[in-house]
Amino acid sequence: MSADTPLHPLAAGPRGQRGPRYGTVAIVLHWLLAAMIVGSLGVGLYMTGLPFSPQRIKLYNWHKWAGVTILLLSALRLLWRLANRPPPVPAQVLAAMPRWQFAGLRASHALMYLLFFAVPLAGWAYTSALGIPVVWFGVLPLPDFVPVDKDLAEAILKPLHKGSAYTLAAVALLHTAAALKHHWIDRDGLLERMWPGPRH
Ligand code: HEM
Repeated sequence: MSADTPLHPLAAGPRGQRGPRYGTVAIVLHWLLAAMIVGSLGVGLYMTGLPFSPQRIKLYNWHKWAGVTILLLSALRLLWRLANRPPPVPAQVLAAMPRWQFAGLRASHALMYLLFFAVPLAGWAYTSALGIPVVWFGVLPLPDFVPVDKDLAEAILKPLHKGSAYTLAAVALLHTAAALKHHWIDRDGLLERMWPGPRH
């Protein structure tokens, strides 16, 4: 076997043997949301360390607007996912995967969907409880769905937003590591199901 011989029989097969891919809407929403979530995590971590300044206020606003957009796109994504079943994992990939890994895959996907809603909702609730209105992109005033309560904001909602955001970052990292392992080590074509553009 040469060094670049695929380790998994599926990797050698032509396109048809690797099973169906995700649809265009699912692929676009996956990568758009991935980029927006990574951006919001980065801006969130950076902005909290800034001294009080116009730049800090601007970044806080963009963070909130992007977060609300993530919430809306996640609702759209969940509806799409419920109406369009994802392509089944090819039987040969399933056979090569220990049961605990498959259970972990399902659990991590469910947890990420939960966090796509919990993280922005906790951030929005925190802002509402501080008495700061959220005006989406400076145009659309959003409702304050939590009454003003500074203790609730600081003792519960802020740690909830931070803790859920860090959990999302950790699960997303694990998800990325698993996808790369399937691509480079198992070579089973799983990543290509979600990759934009043609297969190679
Ligand atoms: C998926 C979307 C979001 C992600 C991934 C995210 C992530 C983060 C992160 C990592 C931090 C820094 C936490 C820390 O280390 O202290 C943060 C802070 C913050 N976020 Fe979000 N966030 C999201 C959505 C939102 C939304 C929708 C709002 C409000 C409408 C919001 C409001 C805030 C505020 C006010 C802070 C600053 C907290 C402080 O002053 O310490 N976030 N966010």
